[in-house]
Amino acid sequence: MKKIRVATGNPHKLAEISAILKPFGIAVERLEAEKVEVQDDDVVAVARKAAEFLCPRYGDYVVVEDTGLYIDALGGFPGPYAEYVYRTIGLRGVLKLLEGVADRSAVFRCAVALCLGGEVRVFVGETRGRIAEEPRGSGGFGYDPIFIPEGSSLTYAEMGEEAKNAVSHRGRAFAALAAWLLSSNF
Ligand code: IMP
Repeated sequence: MKKIRVATGNPHKLAEISAILKPFGIAVERLEAEKVEVQDDDVVAVARKAAEFLCPRYGDYVVVEDTGLYIDALGGFPGPYAEYVYRTIGLRGVLKLLEGVADRSAVFRCAVALCLGGEVRVFVGETRGRIAEEPRGSGGFGYDPIFIPEGSSLTYAEMGEEAKNAVSHRGRAFAALAAWLLSSNF
């Protein structure tokens, strides 16, 4: 079976990526690599820079993923700082910032950087949606209880893994990666 190695310490991400790539016949393994701290306002640049560091060390088919949550009414906050905001003010803090705000639209943006032949190629997946009034659901991780993807009334955390992956930012980014890999001589 064809295989990629994903540099992440997040077991939820790894499980999602494995499920997303399984139908494409692509296996996923965790790459135990040092955490690369890259700061940039754009997840594409974050993923690309991290991959540029890892590619020479770990070689082909290494993948780095970075995700941001951009809330329109907050000028795109927290964007690529979503991890820090989650750890500090948390979901309750984000909901507090949106108290009384009518426009709750937001977008999840996922960048997937692939190392191949000494180059980095980036695939992007986006899912628009809105921020719920209250956390709902017990599935998933991170902001899942407060993100309602467009076309759904359920949060990611209420949808279940398969339904989330079918519409999620990560599902779209990794499907694009899989399509590209399978059309190359992977
Ligand atoms: P990072 O890509 O690991 O830096 O993720 C940034 C932040 O967004 C972390 O707090 C994650 O928990 C959160 N996050 C990433 N992907 C998802 C997702 O699919 N659903 C909900 N939260 C996510």
